[in-house]
Amino acid sequence: MNHFHHISVLVDAVVKYALPENAQTFADCTFGLGGHTKAVLEHYPHLQTVIAIDRDRQILNHSSEVFDDNRIKRIQARASELPEAMLQLGIPAIDGILLDLGVSSYQLEDPERGFSFSRPGPLDMRMDTEQKTTAEYLVNNLERDKLIKIFRDYGEEKFSGRIADAIIRKRESEPINRTDQLAAIIAQAVPAASRRESHIHPATRVFQALRISVNKELEEIEAFLSVALSCLRPGGHLSIISFHSLEDRLVKNFMQNLARGCDCPPKFPVCICGKKPQVEILTRKAIFAEDSETKSNPRARSARLRSCRKYIAGEER
Ligand SMILES: C[S@@+](CC[C@H](N)C(=O)[O-])C[C@H]1O[C@@H](n2cnc3c(N)ncnc32)[C@H](O)[C@@H]1O
Repeated sequence: MNHFHHISVLVDAVVKYALPENAQTFADCTFGLGGHTKAVLEHYPHLQTVIAIDRDRQILNHSSEVFDDNRIKRIQARASELPEAMLQLGIPAIDGILLDLGVSSYQLEDPERGFSFSRPGPLDMRMDTEQKTTAEYLVNNLERDKLIKIFRDYGEEKFSGRIADAIIRKRESEPINRTDQLAAIIAQAVPAASRRESHIHPATRVFQALRISVNKELEEIEAFLSVALSCLRPGGHLSIISFHSLEDRLVKNFMQNLARGCDCPPKFPVCICGKKPQVEILTRKAIFAEDSETKSNPRARSARLRSCRKYIAGEER
């Protein structure tokens, strides 16, 4: 059992936006070690039930040793399986839903989970260790074009082609199954000048890309967004913390689209689509961490929170 600690990001903003006053039900769909839920429970005394979802059984089990409360119902599942979790618990609607995406330090810092290029360990990267596909499988089996696409689309890696070539050369002679082995292959494939100029480790982007691909993180956000609104009680809040632009773009477009209502082209004299706004955006711009927070928790630097509120029937303008 590992004992790595996770510092929750943007806690004050989560407390402010996660729920309407007098809320009774909260779904923390990326529960981790429960840091956000702990703060929410302290500020919303009327809460009766928290659905605590995480796709990682290990972190969910460990979380009860860190902090527990009899209102918390832990369920190992993906966030997009929230409707099934509600059914299982007999909860028809939720007052506030939170998603705090990405991995926890508990996972990142455990070498055995294989998320970090700076910690030698098996090349794994699965949040749900019952899932079959690992990073090792992708690195050793995908064709060149597929590797390049992952590195480019999910990591915005400039040297995707060179890195894919280096991986393919290496795997012809021996399997690539360690994080440090892959990090060294990437570092050698990146031109020396770029390595010198960059302020991040040359393997950072490829590791991010592989993690997103192994866990199908963007598909999972889309699946979650497609059910989220129907799980909310009218007047309920949906809040999402993302850590890179690929995630944030999905969240921003989703909320803006629901807030806009009418989809008719601007040249139409009258609306013919009849689409009404379904949410009010609570955070006009994404909320970022203050300097004081990023100083003590560098992970908070890329975190941003967006939040919206589902309209009550008849309230939408
Ligand atoms: C950044 S941590 C959450 C930390 C938590 N908010 C806290 O304050 O302690 C993200 C957690 O969400 C889980 N996770 C990420 N994506 C998920 C998804 N789509 N469904 C369920 N769990 C997910 C990860 O396994 C990880 O434990």
